[in-house]
Amino acid sequence: MAKDDIFKKIIAHCKEYGFIFPSSEIYDGLGAVYDYGQNGAELKNNIKKYWWDAMVLLNENIVGIDSAIFMHPRIWEASGHVGAFNDPLIDNKDSKKRYRADTLIEDFLDKLEDKIHKELEKARNKFGDDFDEEKFKETNPRVLETRKKINEIKSRYIKASEKEDLGELKQIILDAGIACPESGSKNWTDVRQFNLMFSTQLGSVNEDTYTIYLRPETAQGIFVNFLNVQKTARLKIPFGIAQIGKAFRNEIVARQFVLRMREFEQMEMQYFISPGTEMKWYEFWKNARMKWHKAIGMGDEKYRFHDHDKLAHYANAATDIEFKFPTGFKEVEGIHSRTDYDLGNHEEFSGKKIQYFDNETNKSYCPYVVETSIGLDRTLFSIISNAFTQEKVDWEGSAKEERVVMKIHPALTPVKLAVLPLTKKDGLPEKAREIMDNLKLDFNCQYEEKDSIGRRYRRQDAIGTPFCITVDHQTLDDNTVTVRYRDTMKQERVNISRLQEIMGEKVSMKKLLEKLK
Ligand code: GAP
Repeated sequence: MAKDDIFKKIIAHCKEYGFIFPSSEIYDGLGAVYDYGQNGAELKNNIKKYWWDAMVLLNENIVGIDSAIFMHPRIWEASGHVGAFNDPLIDNKDSKKRYRADTLIEDFLDKLEDKIHKELEKARNKFGDDFDEEKFKETNPRVLETRKKINEIKSRYIKASEKEDLGELKQIILDAGIACPESGSKNWTDVRQFNLMFSTQLGSVNEDTYTIYLRPETAQGIFVNFLNVQKTARLKIPFGIAQIGKAFRNEIVARQFVLRMREFEQMEMQYFISPGTEMKWYEFWKNARMKWHKAIGMGDEKYRFHDHDKLAHYANAATDIEFKFPTGFKEVEGIHSRTDYDLGNHEEFSGKKIQYFDNETNKSYCPYVVETSIGLDRTLFSIISNAFTQEKVDWEGSAKEERVVMKIHPALTPVKLAVLPLTKKDGLPEKAREIMDNLKLDFNCQYEEKDSIGRRYRRQDAIGTPFCITVDHQTLDDNTVTVRYRDTMKQERVNISRLQEIMGEKVSMKKLLEKLK
């Protein structure tokens, strides 16, 4: 199936099964804003818990905070967001579509890289074991020509970005012959800067109101609380402050469902370190964060690092962890070495000393920072899109039919188990309720008695419930139930007293966290 069709199917599934809805849908929606339904909210909470515990429980030197969304407007001047949090945008005159100029160029470079990759694959298939990849790259004329083109465009692009030379960005698009993905036309406007922050008015009386911004990242709430937290928690460098919260960006190209939203959620951790140790900690957090992602079990090959050529205004080194979505690789998390850019600027703009006193060296300094910044919505969608599976099954002995099953890690699934009385009579519902009442203190359980057992299994598969417990007439005689496993669809008869043990093991967050040690 075409990539776009799968993407559309997954979006439809998200809506049908209460994961994600378009926001304000009865008013025809609001661009790039989404609401999480009953299953999406549970999944989100589980991901947050996995992240929070991995940061705050597993690291004695990391604490978590929850700072306000509204912040003093000077913060955004100090952070550079008022001056530099811009996207260069360009319009295609024929399709009237608006694009980010940098994204157009980066996508074009990715296409050229793909071209080289395809040449290599073709040659590898042709020459088999005798294939010498390095030699091929150095000698094949088509590969050499494409590499030369990539290097030329890249070098111009980096220079133009550093100098914020918008004319040169447009010229690169023209020279490379980049066409509008919608219309194929190369008829472009000039490139213009566009600030991504939303603003609003604070205060009720006209004279007292002033413009404030909805935070475009949660990180600044951590920076401005650096002294409060360090002193009250008596933390010694190196230490980290973690936070989960909403961020807002007036994205120009708001497409691709929850991958690019105007209101989204971030999970950020700022790690405060001494100057000169930033590369060591940058490498450390790169590896630690990749391990966190891979522990979810979606396949190591689904992830890759993508080092930035063009650095954000605050960073001296940066990489993305990218995940392979149905539409291709896309960033889910950024790891940035931010130096003392933020604390230093807040010191200057606020006029307050932001220094750390090192008892061992008897010196004060402004700490450096390595940050890990993961998008909760993108992580959630990576899990959903990876879990979405369509398979042909032999349903209750009938002809083969299709089931849609969400193969989400059991520790993260919205519902952990469903309790299903086989019929609505003979005391089975009462027995099922009794089982449910015992288990619901530990697990998110669902009780369902409507429809055939097959349909109920199918509904649970579609939201990823790892266990279905069926209560039948035998249950009343010998206190046993059948446990049906989501992925294998195998059923096992077990005593009710064993349910806690069987499921607790599989759905426990501890299992995930243990992999991070
Ligand atoms: N404090 C650093 C920072 O905000 P970023 O790379 O701009 O860095 C971090 O954002 C993460 O936030 C990204 O990796 C992505 O997962 C998520 N993110 C950024 N913009 C987003 C958007 N418009 N919609 C959904 N997620 C977004």
